[in-house]
Amino acid sequence: MRVESVRGMRDILPEEAVLWQRLEEGIRALFALYGYKEIRPPLVELAELFARGVGEATDIVHKEMYVFPDKKGQMLALRPEATASVVRAYIEHGLYAKGDLAKLYYIGPMFRYEKPQKGRQRQFHQYGVEALGSLDPALDAEVIDLAWHLMERVGLAREGLYLRLNSIGCREDRPAFREALRSYFSARKAELCGDCQRRLEENPLRILDCKEPQCQGAIAEAPKSLDYLCQKCRAHFEELLSFLQDLGLAYELDPRLVRGIDYYTRTVFELCSRELGAQDALLGGGRYDDLVELLGGPPTPGVGFAGGMERLVLVLSQHLTANPDAPDLDVYVVPIGDEGRRKALEVLARLRRAGVAADLEYVGRSLRKAMSVAARRARHALLLGPDELAQGALTLKDLASGESQTLSLAEFLADPRAFLSPLPSGEKGGGDPFPRKTG
Ligand code: HAM
Repeated sequence: MRVESVRGMRDILPEEAVLWQRLEEGIRALFALYGYKEIRPPLVELAELFARGVGEATDIVHKEMYVFPDKKGQMLALRPEATASVVRAYIEHGLYAKGDLAKLYYIGPMFRYEKPQKGRQRQFHQYGVEALGSLDPALDAEVIDLAWHLMERVGLAREGLYLRLNSIGCREDRPAFREALRSYFSARKAELCGDCQRRLEENPLRILDCKEPQCQGAIAEAPKSLDYLCQKCRAHFEELLSFLQDLGLAYELDPRLVRGIDYYTRTVFELCSRELGAQDALLGGGRYDDLVELLGGPPTPGVGFAGGMERLVLVLSQHLTANPDAPDLDVYVVPIGDEGRRKALEVLARLRRAGVAADLEYVGRSLRKAMSVAARRARHALLLGPDELAQGALTLKDLASGESQTLSLAEFLADPRAFLSPLPSGEKGGGDPFPRKTG
């Protein structure tokens, strides 16, 4: 019987992995440019971390988290997001003790038991940043600038994107806003779905995230968080808006945006694609000024975002030239006869130690077939036949020009790079990392 992959968890096959690698490289380089350093928290945490950090009443914790007991009965969870993990690590390792801003980034898999659809999976991958230790709205602006810059870097045009922005205030503002929502939605309770009737008791803010069509009428006319901001939160938000204007970064104020996680305070935002349909958020984030304290650390504000790799790949693959068959080897070794086969492995080992990407015709194809595989996979074919070997030589064929030359094996192996032409641009090791469709 065939064993298949788990629903919502897919393989990233080699052809697609090339794009992932390039994206990851680009993302890491950009994060470093803004002063972020990588952190790699574990995939498994105590379930309690997310229940407290992300919030019991959120869909992520309430419905979507993979939770299981270990052999001692401790409840563990596959991480559904990384902000809570980063904050836990920040506290556990006393990173705040340095007294400086901590700027941390991550790239890796997250797990949510959601209904899989285009751009939504159960194992998905996020790239994200967290900046801990400053309340300055300039940092919110910098984080949003980084989000826009990342889209520019991978080549997505601004016109295809929009940034939704809102402020949901601080914990002092929250009770009045929550009460306003509770009393408003209580009056319209009959219109709400079953989940929202539960949310009304647990955390009425979460009703604003609901996607059920039946709730949209009531949500559209609900009280707006911006009307409940204290003086400080209002000033913070206004300063952020003026920074964004100075930076020339577009945004759309969206009073409905509260994001589906409880830790947010003040700024919340999502950068969305006009090309993705229902799952249009490429990335989302905001401020979380109470989370460090909530998880047992000293009061420390934070701001960050995370984006979905799969969604980025989806949008990008609509714009890139797919060229899965482009050669990725410098040399394909084609042995002829037993002597050739015996010598081939040694030649291959020497080539690789000299930094030459090389592979061997292992399948025993005819010379003609082997040469057509070589043409597809490599820049050069290296023929090792009895005639060549008898003279201590080899034949090197340039598969782009079709020209062949006979070379001394010893001379060639002493400095193979001197005899080899580079791979075409855009392929391994050079050129435009994101070749675009033309016309
Ligand atoms: P989030 O909005 O839950 O925020 O997720 C961020 C991004 O991850 C989404 O915008 C989306 O691109 C991607 N994503 C989420 N769920 C899925 C899924 N099931 N399949 C594919 N992609 C998905 C957070 O996770 C926060 N930790 C972000 C943050 C960091 N806020 C402050 N710092």
